[in-house]
Amino acid sequence: MQLEFSADNEARLGRLLAEYPDRQACLLPALYIAQEQFGYLTHEVMELVAERIGMPPGEVLSTATFYTMFRKRPTGKYHIQVCGNVSCFLRGSDRLMTALSKTLGIGDGETTEDGLFTLSAVQCLAACGTAPALQVNDTYYEEMTPEKVVELVGRLREEAK
Ligand code: FES
Repeated sequence: MQLEFSADNEARLGRLLAEYPDRQACLLPALYIAQEQFGYLTHEVMELVAERIGMPPGEVLSTATFYTMFRKRPTGKYHIQVCGNVSCFLRGSDRLMTALSKTLGIGDGETTEDGLFTLSAVQCLAACGTAPALQVNDTYYEEMTPEKVVELVGRLREEAK
């Protein structure tokens, strides 16, 4: 079956293209829209984006693969991304990863068997002033501690019930 954007997303893309005549400027928001609809970006989805906004597929692919916020494979309902860059590392991001790995029973890049959580170590989330930081889907959590991440996982498990 041929992939298609939903009617709503078609309309959003239409507005984007009207607002930004430069196709390059539409690329990141268009990839976000695609990720929202399809869950992650397969080659087929990237080709659809390329075709819809009128860009070479290779450019779409290289942009999508450069940014860690774009998922290239299925992820859990909650995608926990822990910054491991300098400020966060100096303030204990490795301890956050250890606590998360232990409480979730998975390592970097893995997804829990129930499909609820994916854990990823990522580069700077631009929250260096409130390190260590992590992101769950689109929500930021800053000045985190191992205790706070375990509590957060518990809250998310409850929320998912
Ligand atoms: S170093 Fe972690 S948010 Fe910038």
